[in-house]
Amino acid sequence: MSLPRISRFDLAHRVMSAGDAASLISDGMTVGMSGFTGSGYPKAVPLALATRIEAEHAAGRAMRVKVWTGASTGPELDGALAKANGVELRLPYNSDPIARERINRGEMEYLDMHLSQVAPVAWQGFLGPLDIAIVEVSGIRADGSLIPSSSVGNNKTWLDRANGVILEVNRWQNPALEGMHDIYYGTALPPHRVPIPLIRPDDRIGQPTFRCDPEKILAIVETDAPDRNAPFSPPDAVAGAIAGHLLEFFTHEVGRGRLPPSLLPLQSGVGNIANAVLTGLLDSPFEGMTAYTEVIQDGMLDLIDAGKLRMASATAFSLSPEAAARVNADMARYRDRMILRPQEISNHPELVRRLGCIAMNGLIEADIYGNVNSTHVMGSRIQNGIGGSGDFARNAYVSIFMTPSTAKRGAISAIVPHVSHVDHITQDVQVIVTEQGLADLRGLSPKQRAELVIERCAHPDYRPALRDYYLRARAGSYGQQSPMLPSEALSWHQRYIDTGTMRT
Ligand code: COA
Repeated sequence: MSLPRISRFDLAHRVMSAGDAASLISDGMTVGMSGFTGSGYPKAVPLALATRIEAEHAAGRAMRVKVWTGASTGPELDGALAKANGVELRLPYNSDPIARERINRGEMEYLDMHLSQVAPVAWQGFLGPLDIAIVEVSGIRADGSLIPSSSVGNNKTWLDRANGVILEVNRWQNPALEGMHDIYYGTALPPHRVPIPLIRPDDRIGQPTFRCDPEKILAIVETDAPDRNAPFSPPDAVAGAIAGHLLEFFTHEVGRGRLPPSLLPLQSGVGNIANAVLTGLLDSPFEGMTAYTEVIQDGMLDLIDAGKLRMASATAFSLSPEAAARVNADMARYRDRMILRPQEISNHPELVRRLGCIAMNGLIEADIYGNVNSTHVMGSRIQNGIGGSGDFARNAYVSIFMTPSTAKRGAISAIVPHVSHVDHITQDVQVIVTEQGLADLRGLSPKQRAELVIERCAHPDYRPALRDYYLRARAGSYGQQSPMLPSEALSWHQRYIDTGTMRT
C-alpha cells in the first residue's frame, strides 16, 4: 500500500479537481508557479486554467494572467497557457517554443531576469503583489510543512508572498525525495542582510521542507504525472571537440597549480554541449569533484555513479526521461549526493564568488573582444533568456563560454565583429571555446583578445573576413583601445537577415 501524501488531515476538505482550483484564478491576477526546467512544475491546474481561458475567450470575455516561475517549465504550463493566449506577462526564463513565438510576435510581455534576483526583487515589491501561488510538492506533512518535489526554484518566496496557495501533490514524485532539499530562510532585504553561512557545496544551512500558513491553502489537487525534460543528444564531433579543449585546459590549469586536482565546484549551463563536457569529465583524471550549479543533468548523474563527483548542489533536476527514471529508482542513494536549494541560493553571487565556481555556459554569439550574447538572435528575437549565466559568469573563479563556431549549417558565424545584443561584458568572459580551439583571455587587453579569439575560435570560413575587419578597424583613426568600424559592426547580421547567410 502506498503511503498517504497528505498527512495533515484538517486539509482534506481542500482537496478538489484541477478545474475547481483553476476557477479560483481570475483575469489580471498574478500567479507564481513552481517549476524549473522540466521539473517540479504544476501539471494539472495550469492545463485546466488554459482550458478555462480558451472558454472565456470563445465567449468574448478577456482573461489573461501574469505568470512568474523559477525558470522554464513544461508544455502543460508554458505551452498550454501560451497556446490559449492566456499570458499577459511572463518572467524570468522561458524555453517553450509556443511562448517564444508569442513573445517574438509582441503578443506577450517577457521580463528576462538573472535567476538569483527574482526572489529578492519580488520581496522588494518591484514586481507588484502576488495573488496566487501554484506549487507542486511531493507531500504535506502532519505539521503542515511541505515536502518539495524535483525542483525548488522560487517556491519558498511564492508560498510566503502569495495571498492564496494552490498545491499540487504529485504522487509520481518519489517519497524518498524527503530530506534532499535545503530550504534556507535566512535571507533578508538591506539593511538587514547577513552573510549566508555556506562555505562548502555540501553544507546544509536550512531545513528540508517549506513553511506554509495552512490558512492560505485554498486548494489541493492530487496528480500522478511525470516531469517532462527533453532528452539530451549523444555528444557529436563538435561537442566532443569542445569538451576535449576544455579538459586540456583544466589539465593545464591543475599542472600550473591554478586549480586543485579535484577542480573547483562546477557550474554547468543548459544544453547538449554542457552535458557533453560533463560526459567528457568521466574519462578525465579528476577525482572528488563537486558541483555548485543550477541544474543536475544526465552527465552529473554519470559522474556520481562513476564515483568522480562527490556531490552536486543545484535548484532542480534537468534529467532526460531515462535518467529521471534512474534517479527515481534509486532516490535514497542519490539523496546523500545531491542537495536542491532555492534558486536565490543555488545562484547566489556571494556563494559563487566564495566557492570559486568554474562556470561553463553556452552562447549565441561572441564578438572578437569577448562580449557575449546568450539570448537574442540577430539582436532582436529572444531564444530563451539569460538564466543563471550572469549570476555565475560575473562571480566565477573562471568564466567559460562555449559554442559551435557556426550555426544554421554554417550560414552564421558564432564569432562576429560585434555582438548584436550584450548579456555578458568582456570583463565577465574569461575563456571562449569552440570546436576550433580555446581562447584564454585572462590578462589580455582588448586587441590581444581580438587576435586570439579570431585565430583560436572562429571557423576557418569566417576567419579571413574577421581578420580583414579587425585590421581595417585598427587602421582607423578614431581610437585604438577597442578598434571598431561602427558602419560595419553589425553588417554581418544585416547580411544574414537580407540574404540568409553571413557569408559574403
Ligand atoms: N545565431 C542564430 N541562431 C543561433 C545562433 C546564432 N549565432 N547560435 C545558436 N543558434 C540557434 C541554434 O541554431 C538553435 O536553433 P534551433 O533550436 O532552431 O535549432 C538554438 O539557437 C539553440 O542552439 P544550440 O546550438 O542547440 O545550443 P544550446 O542548446 O547549447 O543552447 C543557448 C545555446 C545559448 C541558446 C543556451 O545555452 C541558453 O539559452 N543560454 C542562456 C541561459 C544559460 O546560459 N543558462 C545556464 C545558466 S546556469
